[in-house]
Amino acid sequence: MSSTLESPAPFNHPSKHTSGLSVLRLADAGEASKRVAREIGSLIRHRAAEHRNCVLGLATGSTPIRVYRELVRMHREEGLSFHNVVTFNLDEYFPIKPDAAQSYVRFMNEHLFDHIDIVRANVHIPKGTIELEAVPGYCRDYDELIASTGGIDLQLLGIGRTGHIGFNEPGATKDTRTRLVKLDNLTRLDAVKDFGGMEHVPLLAITMGVDSILQSRRIRLLAFGEHKADIVQRAIEGRMTSTIPASFLQTHRDVQYLLDDAAAECLSQSTYGETV
Ligand code: F6R
Repeated sequence: MSSTLESPAPFNHPSKHTSGLSVLRLADAGEASKRVAREIGSLIRHRAAEHRNCVLGLATGSTPIRVYRELVRMHREEGLSFHNVVTFNLDEYFPIKPDAAQSYVRFMNEHLFDHIDIVRANVHIPKGTIELEAVPGYCRDYDELIASTGGIDLQLLGIGRTGHIGFNEPGATKDTRTRLVKLDNLTRLDAVKDFGGMEHVPLLAITMGVDSILQSRRIRLLAFGEHKADIVQRAIEGRMTSTIPASFLQTHRDVQYLLDDAAAECLSQSTYGETV
């Protein structure tokens, strides 16, 4: 059964009926994560049956951890193979060594790649160690590589309290591509717990751009907890603006927000319809 058939019809925002934005309010983060993991699993299997690759866009941070845990479980207990999977991570701090405790290379290995049968050559994470002068060319190549694999089938996203997706901070326009960016202070503050002091949090990062993200065929954004409620409301119900880069998702033809009760708290009832 395809993942679309498994899902109850999500509610489409009435004022955005021309876009493909839908919002699901789920009992808790675990339910939301399992739902996305199941969708990813069936996409991978569907592609494998057609002898095709499945290209996934992946995120780090606390939000997707349960999705990765469920995918690892599906690999171990249900025989889900990642042999046909190609991945592109959204972002990486810059500069940072891959073996640093806070690097996204390390995060992805610990939470997913070390536990599944993915072909390592199919894993792509922006490099935090390249020379500054080489960064623009490297970023162009990253976007070109995504395109040459056929584009991202499903992009997993979280949302930052600044309204960022990837590290596209306030000010990022809709046409941005992979590039070096300055991290917003609020984002750096949120990272203090990982780096043990503001002075250790990098100032810069390499991130896929808003446009790079919007090229994905499906986008699934997870947000959990009351600290996300305000920005989720503004991203979904507010006007599109580069002050809240996530608001550009309103133009995408297949984007789904999966929220727990706390993150959905500020939305008007009509936006999410019934709780799943
Ligand atoms: C991480 C990323 C960020 C996070 C966002 C939410 O790769 O691109 O946009 O998704 O900062 O982070 P958490 O999940 O830690 O709240």
